[in-house]
Amino acid sequence: MKIIMNEIYKEAFEKTRQAGAIAAGALDEVNKIIKPGTRTQDIDELCYEYLNDHGAYSAPLFYRGFPKSCCTSTNHVVCHGIPSDKILKEGDIINVDVTALKDGWHGDTSKTFEIGKVSIKAKKLVNTTHEALMKAIKIIKEDTHLGDIGAVIQDHVEAEGFSVVQDFCGHGIGKKFHEEPNVLHYGKKGTGIKIKAGMIFTIEPMINFGKYETKTLNDGWTAVTKDKSLSAQFEHTIGVTKDGCEIFTLSKNK
Ligand code: MF3
Ligand code: CO
Ligand code: CO
Repeated sequence: MKIIMNEIYKEAFEKTRQAGAIAAGALDEVNKIIKPGTRTQDIDELCYEYLNDHGAYSAPLFYRGFPKSCCTSTNHVVCHGIPSDKILKEGDIINVDVTALKDGWHGDTSKTFEIGKVSIKAKKLVNTTHEALMKAIKIIKEDTHLGDIGAVIQDHVEAEGFSVVQDFCGHGIGKKFHEEPNVLHYGKKGTGIKIKAGMIFTIEPMINFGKYETKTLNDGWTAVTKDKSLSAQFEHTIGVTKDGCEIFTLSKNK
């Protein structure tokens, strides 16, 4: 029985590693073209083509009716922004979220890009969000409580005066895009289930400059901060091991 379990775990890791590398590769390509004047639709087309050229599909495309191949969430948009003819301008921040589906397995990652020179406050928000994600990843190993992940993120961002979005969370991922468990980005140390080696899930904190509340626009997808303050997000797909974790969506850049 043990041998069979290990085989499954190995396959899941290998397949997610491949899907994750493709999703991360797409973001590296986005990084090359993104600048003032880029349309969010241009980002979408690049992602669509990159995934196809690498033998993968975009998981978001037509997922529950989502119309595009990636999410592009600018400034006060928290997540699930829909690519359009919107033109990026100097000083914007934009999260691009890409999920590759390769050989039946998913790899999900996102990053917030700075367009040209951004304000000091926007930079601080973006950096703090990335730090929070990486700090959470550092504590992951077999028997870490799920609540410890949320606690690390919440402590780090609240110390800077920012807030953690509560309406969206990380998620188990594998043959399904979104599966158990929910990975909250806030919480208390020592609470929740103990994670086990072989589990694969995302961590994807959305951090607001102002208050944590969000609302969804009439398009049914675009989530924005209620107070119109800036929001940033980074996401990795990780696999838990006995003494740590593997990040499947690490990019060559950051
Ligand atoms: N990639 C997002 C996540 O991190 C989900 C996007 S679903 C979509 O879970 F339909 F909006 F694309
Ligand atoms: Co995700
Ligand atoms: Co995502």
